[in-house]
Amino acid sequence: MTRTLPTAFVPAPYIPADAPFTPEQRVWLGGFLSGLTAKLKAEEDSGPTRPPVSVLHGSQTGNAEGLANDLAGALKAQGVPVSLKSLGDVAVDEVPAMGRVLVICSTYGEGEMPDSAELFWDGFREEAMPRLEGLQFAVLALGDTGYDDYCQAGKDIDTRFEQLGARRLIDRVDCDVDYDDPAAAWIAEALAVLADLDGAAATAAAAGSVTEAPAKKKSKWSRKNPYRSVLAVSRLLSGAGSAKDIRHYEFALDDPDLTYAAGDSLGVVPTNDPALVGALIEHFGVEPEHDVAGRLLYEVLACDVEIVTPSKDLLNEFARRAPDSDLARGVHSPDKAAFDRWLWGQDVLELLEDGPQIALEEFLPLLRPLQHRSYSISSSPLAAPGRVALTIASVRYKRGRRARGGVCSTFLADRLAPGDTAGIFVAPNNSFRPPADGDTPMIMVGPGTGIAPFRAFLQERLATGARGRNWLFFGDQHRAHDFLYEDELIQMGENGLLDRLDLAFSRDQADKIYVQTRMREHGAELFSWLAEGAHFYVCGDATHMAKDVDAALHEIVARHGGMEPDDAADYIATMRREKRYVRDVY
Ligand SMILES: Cc1cc2nc3c(=O)[nH]c(=O)nc-3n(C[C@H](O)[C@H](O)[C@H](O)COP(=O)(O)OP(=O)(O)OC[C@H]3O[C@@H](n4cnc5c(N)ncnc54)[C@H](O)[C@@H]3O)c2cc1C
Ligand SMILES: NC(=O)c1ccc[n+]([C@@H]2O[C@H](COP(=O)([O-])OP(=O)(O)OC[C@H]3O[C@@H](n4cnc5c(N)ncnc54)[C@H](OP(=O)(O)O)[C@@H]3O)[C@@H](O)[C@H]2O)c1
Ligand SMILES: Cc1cc2nc3c(=O)[nH]c(=O)nc-3n(C[C@H](O)[C@H](O)[C@H](O)COP(=O)(O)O)c2cc1C
Repeated sequence: MTRTLPTAFVPAPYIPADAPFTPEQRVWLGGFLSGLTAKLKAEEDSGPTRPPVSVLHGSQTGNAEGLANDLAGALKAQGVPVSLKSLGDVAVDEVPAMGRVLVICSTYGEGEMPDSAELFWDGFREEAMPRLEGLQFAVLALGDTGYDDYCQAGKDIDTRFEQLGARRLIDRVDCDVDYDDPAAAWIAEALAVLADLDGAAATAAAAGSVTEAPAKKKSKWSRKNPYRSVLAVSRLLSGAGSAKDIRHYEFALDDPDLTYAAGDSLGVVPTNDPALVGALIEHFGVEPEHDVAGRLLYEVLACDVEIVTPSKDLLNEFARRAPDSDLARGVHSPDKAAFDRWLWGQDVLELLEDGPQIALEEFLPLLRPLQHRSYSISSSPLAAPGRVALTIASVRYKRGRRARGGVCSTFLADRLAPGDTAGIFVAPNNSFRPPADGDTPMIMVGPGTGIAPFRAFLQERLATGARGRNWLFFGDQHRAHDFLYEDELIQMGENGLLDRLDLAFSRDQADKIYVQTRMREHGAELFSWLAEGAHFYVCGDATHMAKDVDAALHEIVARHGGMEPDDAADYIATMRREKRYVRDVY
């Protein structure tokens, strides 16, 4: 076999004569070692290393994490030693020694930290947090102007660093859903400022090249460049008598660059309902082919903008134009919850029909860009190679005379048939994984579509032959119609994969029974699993279910662990720190 030898431009290192190499290996090794020596020497000659930087991210669906990877890669390319970490892996007492910290963090819930950053934030905001004079920092905040508390998590972290006496390297930038350009500009500025401080050349920064030498290999398929995948399966899971329309979908994965792990989410890029697009065009009394900056109006409304949920800009503009309307009173009311209730279910067309006059050209710029939707993946790649499964509740409701639907869930249910294609991409969720040790017990709480990742976890455990015990809490409205994946789950019980399956059908009796009812009923056993090191997972509704399950968990640990509430809270905080209590809630 012939090899290309590295050019020897420093003396060849000595290889002892009795070293066990063939003459050919000896020549190759000599060249290789020369190259290595030259490289080390060049690095030594390039002067002192620059001060290290900690790049920290708080992320749930991977946007902030992806940007942090880019930033870390660009810093490394400039010769800066980088420590790249999730905020979930940072103990607050490590922060004072970090020197330089760049944080990229998204916002969840109602202006809250992403789950992975909550524990960090609990410590960071404590009064006992040491002062950070001498530390330099900068924050990039990701969010969505559709929410009231825009980029609140990033804002809170930024303010707290300042309160603690740290020095801001560059101003915080708040990014809306189209974050690529402002994020790239923030990264470029951070790189340039750091290079300037160190008296180093800022060439990579000036070029805005933030993806050089990425810390992790990135898939080429992304939000901006989704993979066109064929829908292979679309199957109704909920029964004929159900109030819900929950479906199982499978997309084909035919590209080697599109891989996933159990626990990840899938981004799906929808198009809008043609009937709603048509109704909007009719409202404005123009032709579907009306020109909008070189595109057809029909295409813009179908593919480019959100036409179901009204944007804040649209609400504010309508409030400005009709100051005496209910809408204007709601927009200006301090009672945001009451306004949200009033607005709930009203779509853009309804606001147009009931609202003030507005010309098409003024209206279009007020709409937000059409976004992908995230879905927890409900298959394991080990069990279903070449496929990725989703479990999705179609958002459907009636208001006035029109039946209405959520953009993406009805795009999949009503407008995409097997054989059709849609844009998809994988959003890694590295903090939501089955236990690395197959012997570790696992407790999963996933009512409704929250079952999705746990189907994936169980498939994964079956495929890997993991022997750890598995306990699933599942529930929905009625056993007869809403027992999602009933056959599979019963079979998993029969074949011994599922050690416990506790069911909570909320509407099969006069009083509601929820998953947390079952947790409490079996509290002693649940605590004994936790005491043996079980991981505790929750997926599904964030607004009510996840909070109530968390409260039940605290009660169970206090009662069955014989602890005071504060000690139970510490016990659970430790579980979170050890990544034994993780959630995928939305
Ligand atoms: C990480 C993550 C994972 C997720 N995983 C899953 C999953 O596995 N399965 C799943 O089904 N979903 C999941 N979701 C939710 C999913 O992303 C979408 O939010 C959901 O499918 C709705 O999107 P849509 O486009 O159909 O509706 P949208 O177009 O976003 O419309 C929603 C709007 O409809 C209105 N609305 C909804 N319901 C009603 C009602 N009953 N009455 C009146 N108005 C109403 C509201 O105004 C609401 O803003 C997940 C979300 C995240 C962030
Ligand atoms: N962001 C979005 O636009 C969007 C869109 C779709 C879904 N979602 C979220 O995704 C969740 C999943 O929807 P889904 O239809 O699969 O299931 P779901 O609505 O969460 O219902 C599943 C089961 O949970 C029960 N439940 C209700 N409140 C609960 C509580 N506080 N604690 C524990 N269980 C509770 C329900 O009972 P009852 O119904 O009998 O009370 C039902 O039996 C939704 O709740 C919703 O928040 C969000
Ligand atoms: C359930 C949910 C709640 C959210 N809440 C907020 C919010 O309160 N404020 C905000 O600015 N953005 C909010 N966002 C938007 C996210 O912060 C935004 O999509 C961000 O890019 C996600 O980044 P990540 O993938 O790194 O988690 C929310 C998103 C979801 C899915």
